[in-house]
Amino acid sequence: MAELFEDLNPPQRLLMGPGPVNAHPRVLAAMSAPLLGQFDPQFREYMKQTSALYRGVFQTANRWTLLVDGTARAAIEAALVSLIEPGDRVLVPVFGRFGNLIVEIARRCGADVRVIEVEWGKVFADEALQATVSREKPKLVAVCHGDTSTTMAQPLAALGKACREHDALLYVDATATLGGMDIQTDAWQLDVVTAGLQKCMGGPPGSAPLTLNERAERRIVRRRHIEAGLQDNKYKAGEGPIIASNYFDLAMIMDYWSDKALNHHTEATSMLYAARECARIVLQEGLANAFARHAAASRALTAGLKAIGLELFGDQDHKMPNITGVHIPRGVDGEAVRRALLAEHNIEIGTSFGPLHGRIWRIGTMGYNAREDAVLATLDALEAVLAAQKFKLPRRAGVDAARSAFG
Ligand SMILES: Cc1ncc(COP(=O)(O)O)c(C=O)c1O
Repeated sequence: MAELFEDLNPPQRLLMGPGPVNAHPRVLAAMSAPLLGQFDPQFREYMKQTSALYRGVFQTANRWTLLVDGTARAAIEAALVSLIEPGDRVLVPVFGRFGNLIVEIARRCGADVRVIEVEWGKVFADEALQATVSREKPKLVAVCHGDTSTTMAQPLAALGKACREHDALLYVDATATLGGMDIQTDAWQLDVVTAGLQKCMGGPPGSAPLTLNERAERRIVRRRHIEAGLQDNKYKAGEGPIIASNYFDLAMIMDYWSDKALNHHTEATSMLYAARECARIVLQEGLANAFARHAAASRALTAGLKAIGLELFGDQDHKMPNITGVHIPRGVDGEAVRRALLAEHNIEIGTSFGPLHGRIWRIGTMGYNAREDAVLATLDALEAVLAAQKFKLPRRAGVDAARSAFG
């Protein structure tokens, strides 16, 4: 007989990295609800409710507010492959790894990609973005809102205005900020916004909320080509080029989510339950309260880190409230600290990529984990592990500073 291994029994970790974070217990409970068929009227009702709930979370009236099945990058790919026609000029402002991801996906879609960059740890000035949109005249601007690799968040309202003025569509990756930072889809004139569950929404990875407005809908629907086996005698193909992915074809995904209920993929039932519950939790708390909770956790964590004698990374005026970059002090082995936190304290914090690799740790305070006890436990453990590494620090100073920041 093949080896069956032991029963699944993962350790109880406190996930204080850049995501995934611990899912809210209500979300895990929702995922164990009985499965329904994808065309069961009750399930279609849950889909409609999920759309309505995410309109609230995305702060939009967009009809097309739905889930793409897959992790956050599934929605990024769906948005880009459905919006970009080969040869389209696409402008990507890059301030970290996830901007580079957008560049890569846009190139795979055949775009003529124009990139502007700032040093990791900074964001773009509004004027620089406005001037570049005016000069490049892209069909699409695609940008990350909060880039977890650098912990920076790019302000978007002025960019939204510039894109409208120059008739460019604006796509935003809000994977790491939705539910933790204000994202006013309609007021800021964002045409398409996508996210994930495993950060500030407090769910597991595997479902990617997406919203798109009528401007984006027009761009997508002109490329609508439905599968041969589903066409009826009234079917007329769109005049634009066929979208190069079947799974991520937003025209077909919209048909599936609409009252037509045209068959496409099989909706990931348990992930829809999870996404629905994440949105219910965030809206029940209230968006403003959820943002304030993330900001409070960030203030307390950063106060604690500074009190330990650590230096924060990047432009603090544009730091995301849900993730903090902190320099690894000279003489300290950053990976040994992470290993000890995990092995001795069951706490995970993040490493970093590219130019920041080995230079900073990233500590997340997001979703269900943007809580006082989680912040204090992390600082307490970090103090103990750093002290064991012979890093001189005033013991308890971090925890005390964080506690008084929480008030
Ligand atoms: C800003 C940002 N975008 C995209 C992604 C990709 O998400 P996923 O790993 O869920 O596909 C991440 C994941 O960390 C992220 O932080």
